[in-house]
Amino acid sequence: MTRPDVLDALVSLAKRRGFIFQSSEIYGGTGSVWDYGPLGVELKNNVKARWWNAMVRERDDVEGLDAAILMHPKVWEASGHVSGFSDPLVDCKACKARFRADKLGDAVCPRKPSKQPGEHADCQLTEPRQFNLMFKTFMGPVEESASVVYLRPETAQGIFVNFLNVQQATRQKVPFGIAQIGKAFRNEITPGNFIFRTREFEQMEMQFFVEPGTDMDWFERWKAARLDWHLGLGLDRDRLAFHQHTEKELAHYARAAFDINFDFGGTLGFQEIEGVHNRSDFDLRQHQEHSSKKLEYVDQANNKRYLPYVIETSVGADRVTLAILVNALREEAVAGEQEGRTVMGFHPALAPIKAGVFPLTKKDGQPEMAERLAAALRKRFPVFYDEAGAIGRRYRRQDEAGTPFGITIDGDSTANDDVTIRFRDDMGQIRVATSQVAEVLSRYLEADHVRADSRLVG
Ligand code: GAP
Repeated sequence: MTRPDVLDALVSLAKRRGFIFQSSEIYGGTGSVWDYGPLGVELKNNVKARWWNAMVRERDDVEGLDAAILMHPKVWEASGHVSGFSDPLVDCKACKARFRADKLGDAVCPRKPSKQPGEHADCQLTEPRQFNLMFKTFMGPVEESASVVYLRPETAQGIFVNFLNVQQATRQKVPFGIAQIGKAFRNEITPGNFIFRTREFEQMEMQFFVEPGTDMDWFERWKAARLDWHLGLGLDRDRLAFHQHTEKELAHYARAAFDINFDFGGTLGFQEIEGVHNRSDFDLRQHQEHSSKKLEYVDQANNKRYLPYVIETSVGADRVTLAILVNALREEAVAGEQEGRTVMGFHPALAPIKAGVFPLTKKDGQPEMAERLAAALRKRFPVFYDEAGAIGRRYRRQDEAGTPFGITIDGDSTANDDVTIRFRDDMGQIRVATSQVAEVLSRYLEADHVRADSRLVG
């Protein structure tokens, strides 16, 4: 089954509601760079916090790190990025467009979009040449080859070069891991599909250092753990699939690699959101050779020393955020109403705003009571206060933002000191004493539950 292509609808909703804007839009935009607006930054922060909790806080065998973006240029020689991190590029001399030589089948001729590059009579494609994807800049005031540095194309190398620092500082014993979240930059030839492939993006990477011989066992464990993490974000099971790298796809250093793919729908279909790789001891060995510093782990208890193998889990924060947006978007008919509704059915833990607070009218003390409640709730959750327009429209605006709970203060509220909680997914309602609202919402959030359910009230 091909799922519908929702990217265009999503790009427009993302801009209208303040999830994601094109970078430098007033100047015509920057190629494949995006800015996260008020709702987007909360959503992406929630994704990153969930990853950090699962990978670092809830485990005692993974340590956190925040390495710098700019690194010694020799790092990229050792890692193989200077010589090998390139894509084959062809130029069209007629229309000046550039394409990846290995992806011509997926590209369209700008002069005739029904054709592939090379198929139009005017096309003049050059021979492929290798194009390095790293962004280069200069450190210090002199622009010469000795001062070249690169914007990191992956966060992983910051972890490899700090392997012994972290191990010695924390006294961790192998097997253990190091995790970090940070920006990475790639001068992609064919970026696109909104935030799917961009030139500036964020990675959440973890390198797990193990004794050689135990690596495939750990590889299987991490594969399973990472799929579970994606399921825990609320991504549909049948939109997720493993893809095993074939011999041809495997990087030269990798012993085994699986992608976790998500079905984005339309022509994009199933695409990688995360890679789980067995990188052997390639990276530590390369850095040991290039730096002339011993990077061996000393296993005193067993009187052994060795270069650990590395199981890597590498996921794009932006790509997962896109998967969450695609997975969440739904258009629904509403019984008894002509207009349907657009709902972002986020998992409640990921929702940028947890509750909307709405006085039914602007009189009779309702706004004052609603503002008092919103201020109290804000100490615990992101809350949005809205008194403008018909209540139905206010609910719809929060449905589009993915807000799981709507709290309405009506004429009875001021008399009885209670409110209505309306649930995003089934639009069911319950009545709750004002003093209980924060507690009831916490219970629903902890239970990941966004349907009216009296068991969670009392
Ligand atoms: N350290 C291994 C590594 O970087 P990768 O497969 O090149 O592996 C890992 O990247 C993840 O980073 C991908 O699964 C994807 O989620 C994300 N990613 C890579 N390039 C990206 C880009 N240009 N834009 C957005 N995300 C990207």
